[in-house]
Amino acid sequence: MAYIVQKKGSPEIKDNSEVKKFLNSRGIDYEHWDTPASANSLLSKDTLNDAEKEELLGKLDNRFEELKSKFGYRTRDLVVLHPGVPGIKDMLAKFDKVHYHTDEEVRYIVDGSGIFGFSIKGEKFLVHVSRNDYISVPRNTNHWFYLDEKMRIKAVRYFQDMSGWVPNYVEETAAID
Ligand SMILES: [Fe+2]
Repeated sequence: MAYIVQKKGSPEIKDNSEVKKFLNSRGIDYEHWDTPASANSLLSKDTLNDAEKEELLGKLDNRFEELKSKFGYRTRDLVVLHPGVPGIKDMLAKFDKVHYHTDEEVRYIVDGSGIFGFSIKGEKFLVHVSRNDYISVPRNTNHWFYLDEKMRIKAVRYFQDMSGWVPNYVEETAAID
């Protein structure tokens, strides 16, 4: 369940409806979506081959269908990260600096956890996401992303147009006060 940190050491926003309200009022879509029990055995694996990834995506495609009809998303894929993934540090280093995309960054976290940082109109905050959190970072919104110490996440990515999903870096510190 997602929670929000606004300042180091200040109380976190944990109540799910408060989290949703906080994010929605800043233009960020957020939903809590339970994964189906039929996905559990695939979700518990460290690594998934391509066939297993496709099988898992198939079990979650009711969400994709909803997003397709609501927002026109056209493709989806599955990212599986854990400490054994070769080059994981380099991969993560692309996104842990403040950046924006010209398309939305849409993620459904189905296993593990991570942290999105945001800088919107001078306000900075962190959104800790974990299993069953769906989040859509609006286009042209400064943000960053990193994994927590467990270095483990499985997330479905939804795209309208993959060309819009490159990071444009901005000169700003990827940290809250
Ligand atoms: Fe991003």
